[in-house]
Amino acid sequence: MERTLSIIKPDGVSHGLIGEVIKRLEKNHIKIIAIKMIQMNQKQAQGFYAVHKDRPFFNSLTTFMTSGPVVVMVLEGNNVISKYRDLMGATNYKEAAEGTIRKDFATDIEKNVVHGSDAPETAAFEIGYFFNSFEIMS
Ligand code: CMP
Repeated sequence: MERTLSIIKPDGVSHGLIGEVIKRLEKNHIKIIAIKMIQMNQKQAQGFYAVHKDRPFFNSLTTFMTSGPVVVMVLEGNNVISKYRDLMGATNYKEAAEGTIRKDFATDIEKNVVHGSDAPETAAFEIGYFFNSFEIMS
């Protein structure tokens, strides 16, 4: 059993895609074991994306991620990290496979609707960043 962190980003929320993303999760039998809506401040976004702090897009990314509410979720299941990444599609929506969330709804490499952890270690950090143990259904 694996867990991963999912974020529906500000563009996904403002474009009315919360239901669409959740529908795709449920259709693919991915279990949601925690969910909430938050709006990050710059410091929180910088901490979350600290691995990208030296990348040229870091300022733009953290500003975008604070521009509106996001929906954060913890997902659980066998191989859920790669399963959810398959549903999301490639970071660059132009390279994303047909039928993926990013191919269908992303408008930009940055405004790519959703985020998902890329490995078990990152998932543990990212889940702990937003949720305490009382907020996660086991
Ligand atoms: P995400 O999966 O949340 O991880 C890092 C984010 O940085 C990525 O999705 C994009 O939203 C954003 N980003 C912006 N520009 C780039 C880029 N050139 N390469 C990778 N990620 C980028």
